Amino acid sequence: MLEDFNLQRIVEPLLKWFQDNARVLPWREEPAPYRVWVSEIMLQQTRVEAVKPYFQRFTEALPNVQALAECEEEKLLKLWEGLGYYNRVRNMQAAARTMMEKYQGQLPADYEELLKLKGIGHYTAGAIASIAYKIPVPAVDGNVLRVIARVSNDNSDIMKQSVRTRVEEALQTIMPEHAASEFNQALMELGATVCVPNGAPQCEKCPWQNFCEAKRLDCWQFLPVKSKAKPRKIEEKTVFIIRDGDKIVLHKRPQKGLLAGLYEFPNTAGHLSEEEALLWVREQRLQPIRIQKLESAKHVFSHVEWHMTGYVVRVDELTENKSGMLFVEISDSEERYPIPAAFAAYTKYMNIRLGNEKFEREN
Ligand code: ADE
Ligand code: SF4
Repeated sequence: MLEDFNLQRIVEPLLKWFQDNARVLPWREEPAPYRVWVSEIMLQQTRVEAVKPYFQRFTEALPNVQALAECEEEKLLKLWEGLGYYNRVRNMQAAARTMMEKYQGQLPADYEELLKLKGIGHYTAGAIASIAYKIPVPAVDGNVLRVIARVSNDNSDIMKQSVRTRVEEALQTIMPEHAASEFNQALMELGATVCVPNGAPQCEKCPWQNFCEAKRLDCWQFLPVKSKAKPRKIEEKTVFIIRDGDKIVLHKRPQKGLLAGLYEFPNTAGHLSEEEALLWVREQRLQPIRIQKLESAKHVFSHVEWHMTGYVVRVDELTENKSGMLFVEISDSEERYPIPAAFAAYTKYMNIRLGNEKFEREN
């Protein structure tokens, strides 16, 4: 149990370990508050290695709060393309606009003020306050919950907000006054690189190996305790890559809900047969000339899974079509229309020369 464990003893070995083992990361080298914020939001959804190129691209295009506040929506979504959870970047822009109005274009150097901003919760506020401003407050993410549950052999359910709050309170009491940034990052780093979430922890490399309760009792497999989220809803879809030469049909998603405002390949519910697919295309007032079935694909969101099947459809020159359908140049679509990663399995069919014998060759 956390309450029975002498938590103070984790601090010194951890800080020492971090000095020797901290990874070199772009936002660590130059921890300007804006950069810390951007990196922490990106890291909530993707591993460090995968985040690096996105971080580079994003901070080059939008180097500060003002640039983010003023960025046109489609460019913003395009910069986030591939990271998923697009509402996070929309929230960042809303927060950036608040900072322009209320905080002279700066991130406030205050935990409570940070918390008031859109998209900034306890973890992110703690990370920005401690890493960028050296304020001694905890930043408790999944990594931190795991290492603390293990070192103290605490079997509380980490999905509960009350448990997170308890961990924050416990860490606040041992927080080193002058090394908040290092302490918080070291906890996360230990969770990311040593006391890992999938597979066995590397206890022989761990600075806590001499007093860790999970190691002593060999019970790391059972920690942390995490109640199951409810199972995701499965949605079946048929996705259409509809082409006329170098043009392709895209559809803008509604401004609310999943993947709001992004562009998608036209799609419909259910797994359609080739005949049904042709019928659907005609219902969109398009004239199909050739159709080819594509592989099926799956995309997992937090609450839904899309199980997709796809068709490439060549259509006759487009004059009239149903509302909401856009015919765009493929090259434009790459620059201007963000297509969410959910469709990644099919984006490759935008560019291919259709070499299949069912299709005419293009020259
Ligand atoms: N994961 C999320 N933020 C991190 C950070 N600042 N250091 C290490 N891992 C992290
Ligand atoms: Fe995790 Fe092993 Fe370190 Fe304990 S000793 S915190 S189980 S890596």
